[in-house]
Amino acid sequence: MAKLASIVLIFSLITTLVLLSSCPAMSQEVEDESEFNYDEGSDKGPQNWGNIKPEWFMCKNGTKQSPIDLLNPTVQIVSNLGALQINYKPSNATLKNRGHDIMLELSSNSSYLQINETQYVLKQLHWHSPSEHTIDGQRFDLELHLVHQTPSEKIAVIGILYRIGKPDFFLSLLKEDLEAISESNGAEREVGMVDPNLIAVSRGQYYRYIGSLTTPPCSENVTWTIVTEIKCVSTEQIQLLRTAVHDKSNSNARPLQPVNGRLVQLNKYRV
Ligand SMILES: *[C@@H]1O[C@H](CO)[C@@H](O)[C@H](O)[C@H]1NC(C)=O
Ligand SMILES: *[C@@H]1O[C@H](CO)[C@@H](O)[C@H](O)[C@H]1NC(C)=O
Ligand SMILES: *[C@@H]1O[C@H](CO)[C@@H](O)[C@H](O)[C@H]1NC(C)=O
Ligand SMILES: *[C@@H]1O[C@H](CO)[C@@H](O)[C@H](O)[C@H]1NC(C)=O
Ligand SMILES: *[C@@H]1O[C@H](CO)[C@@H](O)[C@H](O)[C@H]1NC(C)=O
Repeated sequence: MAKLASIVLIFSLITTLVLLSSCPAMSQEVEDESEFNYDEGSDKGPQNWGNIKPEWFMCKNGTKQSPIDLLNPTVQIVSNLGALQINYKPSNATLKNRGHDIMLELSSNSSYLQINETQYVLKQLHWHSPSEHTIDGQRFDLELHLVHQTPSEKIAVIGILYRIGKPDFFLSLLKEDLEAISESNGAEREVGMVDPNLIAVSRGQYYRYIGSLTTPPCSENVTWTIVTEIKCVSTEQIQLLRTAVHDKSNSNARPLQPVNGRLVQLNKYRV
């Protein structure tokens, strides 16, 4: 009996070794792909982001983190923030599968968002599903982040929320490019000229608060603008974006973070 057991053991060890050595490239890729993930039960999950690298400590030590619930009864309603001053121009762009999301990176500095006297250049945009921010506890199906930055690296992000419905026009323009990169992590594709105006960001009503990046290093002092108008996106379009996320959670939304008494404004400006 003991002899049989040890033969079985040796056989299974050999099988394991063969399996391991037959796909080293693949396991390497999985390691490299995600320094962090969205799986709550994982060492690399959101609860542990702050422990993965010393420079990611804000993910656990920050007190002004994002995303948050935009709770209508506690927001301050204002109108003096004005319409969003966005000045976008067509630019060459590259679509990248980052493993945890899909990002469209602009190759020029020609598009910007102006807040007060500061111009924040549109660098890249990427998608989270389901949405990261919630409104009165309600989560949406998709959230687009337009990431803007000054030369001194001050960051301002515009968030746009989507619910399932008719296809989104901007994503439909990227359909073939998304299909081409959605299966492999690290894949990149030049997509030629892209016009960010076609996202059709509505400018009059938005929430404004100070928070953080929603992915490591979770840096704070990010000026957030969440547009109140909810746009539509099709199930197929979300599916195409989701194939990039390879962990078990099938989501790339960071859990809600404490508001800690922060001021959240709702700007109701008639354009
Ligand atoms: C994070 O916070 C803890 C507890 O408040 C503190 O001991 C630690 O020094 C902080 N870490 C950093 C890197 O600031
Ligand atoms: C966009 O990229 C193409 C291909 O690389 C290049 O030929 C073209 O000049 C670029 N256009 C602009 C405005 O940079
Ligand atoms: C812009 O100016 C307004 C009015 O002075 C001020 O309340 C707000 O904090 C400023 N916003 C930013 C992001 O600096
Ligand atoms: C865009 O701005 C950044 C930072 O100011 C600079 O490093 C980069 O070279 C600029 N890119 C282009 C294409 O002008
Ligand atoms: C946060 O941003 C404000 C306004 O943009 C700036 O004055 C301040 O120095 C920043 N604080 C930190 C800690 O970066």
